[in-house]
Amino acid sequence: MKILGCGSAFYVGQMGAAMIEELARVPADAEPASEFRYRNPIVEPDTLYVAVSQSGETADTAFAVQEVKRKGGQIVGLVNVVGSTIARECDGGIYLHAGPEVAVASTKALTHMGVGFAMLALCLARVRDLSIADGQRIIAALRKVPAQIEEILADEEHIAEVARGLAGAESLFFIGRVRGFPVAREGAQKFKEISYRHAEAYQTSELKHGPLALICETLPTVAILPNDELSDRNLGAMQQIVARRGPLVAVTHPGVDFGDLDVPRIVVPKSERELDPILLTVPLQLMAYHAALALGHDIDKPRNLAKSVTVE
Ligand code: G6P
Repeated sequence: MKILGCGSAFYVGQMGAAMIEELARVPADAEPASEFRYRNPIVEPDTLYVAVSQSGETADTAFAVQEVKRKGGQIVGLVNVVGSTIARECDGGIYLHAGPEVAVASTKALTHMGVGFAMLALCLARVRDLSIADGQRIIAALRKVPAQIEEILADEEHIAEVARGLAGAESLFFIGRVRGFPVAREGAQKFKEISYRHAEAYQTSELKHGPLALICETLPTVAILPNDELSDRNLGAMQQIVARRGPLVAVTHPGVDFGDLDVPRIVVPKSERELDPILLTVPLQLMAYHAALALGHDIDKPRNLAKSVTVE
């Protein structure tokens, strides 16, 4: 499966690709729709293409849809706006029904995209190899998402305090790995879109292969640290940051043993591991919001950006 989208829709496409690979064991990846048609892509008849878009009007994504169709591929949409251009041009798809999204930076639509991908992954998985019990495990976790988001929102004042601490930095890193990496990318995207701070995402595992050279007192890192099979390795990388006096914030789950690592934490309710990215992005949206608020920026209409980019 190949997922195509721009900006946040691309990052959530990466989250979706991980869910599809993990649950359905179908090879899946995501690519920026804005690049797709310019590399003369090979469109395979047995690959399903998925176009992701909140507005359904992003020109780059619409052109990618046309490229797939021109070359005989099958494409479905994961789109919010009913009857929009991308929704109409796709062969079929899922409407997100997130309601109108006004601010430029995608928030609730992004969460709905994550849930949409989980449901798509589940459908594909159950006709392949996923057991009834595992399917029910995912459904039960999806049902808990709204209440878990409420829990995150109840922690807003703490998140705001952390955000105000980050707002003064000229530059920030967001790090995560495997299913946490698209979360880090989306966190950096939100931060740069509305706070105008330079924010860059890296795989936690790549830190030592270059970016570590930049770590110092003035470059904070936001580390995505789910309670999963990689927690210990992630903590090792975080120790490296602290040893170089890099300010660090962890976005994590209950039950992670930090040992002697004393860093500010934003604790997010745990879901099933495949769905964790959906909830982990929510505090990052709030973090970007409160940093932008502290800096006095127009959060709904950030400079230089448009809600739907209808030109190439
Ligand atoms: C613009 C916005 C981004 C958004 C992207 C895709 O570039 O600034 O925030 O993620 O478009 O929008 P779409 O409507 O296709 O999801």
